[in-house]
Amino acid sequence: MGANGSEGKNSLSIRDNRTGRDYEVEILDGDVIRAMDLRQIRVNDGDFGMMAYDPAFTNTASTRSSVTFIDGERGILRYRGYPIEQLAERSTHLEVAYLLLKGELPTQSELDDFVHDVTFHTYVHENITEMLAGFRYDAHAMGMMISAVAALSTFYPEAKDIQDPAARWQQIIRIVGKMPTLAAYAYRHHRGLPYVYPENELSYTANFLNMLFRIGTRDYRPSPVLEKALDILFILHADHEQNCSTSTMRVVASSNADPYSAMAGAMAALYGPLHGGANEAVLRMLNRIGSVDQIPAFLEGVKRKEERLMGFGHRVYKAYDPRASIIKRTADEVFEVTGRNPLLDIALELERIALSEDYFVERNLYPNVDFYSGIIYQAMGFPVEMFPVLFAIPRSVGWLAQWQELLEDPEQRIARPRQVFVGPDARDFVPMGDRG
Ligand code: CMC
Repeated sequence: MGANGSEGKNSLSIRDNRTGRDYEVEILDGDVIRAMDLRQIRVNDGDFGMMAYDPAFTNTASTRSSVTFIDGERGILRYRGYPIEQLAERSTHLEVAYLLLKGELPTQSELDDFVHDVTFHTYVHENITEMLAGFRYDAHAMGMMISAVAALSTFYPEAKDIQDPAARWQQIIRIVGKMPTLAAYAYRHHRGLPYVYPENELSYTANFLNMLFRIGTRDYRPSPVLEKALDILFILHADHEQNCSTSTMRVVASSNADPYSAMAGAMAALYGPLHGGANEAVLRMLNRIGSVDQIPAFLEGVKRKEERLMGFGHRVYKAYDPRASIIKRTADEVFEVTGRNPLLDIALELERIALSEDYFVERNLYPNVDFYSGIIYQAMGFPVEMFPVLFAIPRSVGWLAQWQELLEDPEQRIARPRQVFVGPDARDFVPMGDRG
């Protein structure tokens, strides 16, 4: 028996040493307590009560979710229970999208219907095309994408009807269908090339590659190896539970904003170099390092904290990111078609040295999904500005799956964290002439 006789109970005993009072709070789902249960802990009746201080939400669960499971210690990632390795090997991105969005793998006819619906919503309104044409020639593709997705909300005002499951599904189909089209148009704009319209008989990734790279011929067909490799990369990026952009999607959507506006917010979060912009930052870093013999000097700079080793480290994974292992294997297949990217040698050597150095070992810093993806994208012909966009296309599925879950969760309300105020106490306004 514990000191207070509560051993074996599914509860947590808390003693407030300020008052000597004892409290008992319920433990749910393993090791979780409700933060609101802390509120009863107070010194005086009129007090606000105890709360948890958690900058960057490193130890706060904001939702109960059944979409994606990660065990960061053991390097495990599962969508709806299915291991990422099996999905990457045996599924397709649209089948995985269905799984994430609906919770179960589709039957053949369910998959056929889903693929048909997505395929027939790939066109964007010509006004969107004209809007994209208005960007500067060197506009970053991600800025164009964020703007275009936000603009879509003005074309589909019925998207505001977020409580209607049918209206919700309609927007989901539209977004999954249109993301590759918007991305391809952003790329063609950058290159000064005319836009290529979607072709319905092609697969999701073949159509995307066709819209990107077809020039001057009607019978361009992307390499099946690259089509498959891109599909695998899309599967790996489709969801990753409550990361920065997904949390943004949920926070914006919690105000009942339409999904296009919420997704523009999520995409803005993804754009940053610590998140989906990391693959772009990795490529810039590898180019800057330039050759294998420069690696030790670069890593010394990292250890002095003058540099960050982009594509390494993760808030959740404290082992090898399982997505990075799959990407490494995919890279070999891509390079057989495209030729070997010379940056791969720098990346492999960087990984080899980093994984043997105490600084990285002690901090559990392993390559993450972004370390090798950029090298593949570059070999496939994508400019670095497109890398975060290539993350955003498949992640739109995860954002939408999590958005649906949020709307169907009776416990969710508008997101509104608390603060610990540390500013000045009340003071009187000082006229301009009296200020120091
Ligand atoms: N290079 C060098 N040192 C690092 C790195 C890195 N990439 N990542 C973490 N550290 C160090 C950090 O300086 C700190 O050291 P110390 O304990 O001496 O202060 C320690 O490791 C813990 O790092 P942290 O910044 O507290 O970890 P975090 O969980 O807040 O950050 C991260 C996670 C992903 C933002 C960070 O590892 C990072 O900046 N990585 C590089 C950017 C990157 O590759 N991002 C892609 C993430 S995966 C794709 C995605 O989900 O978007």
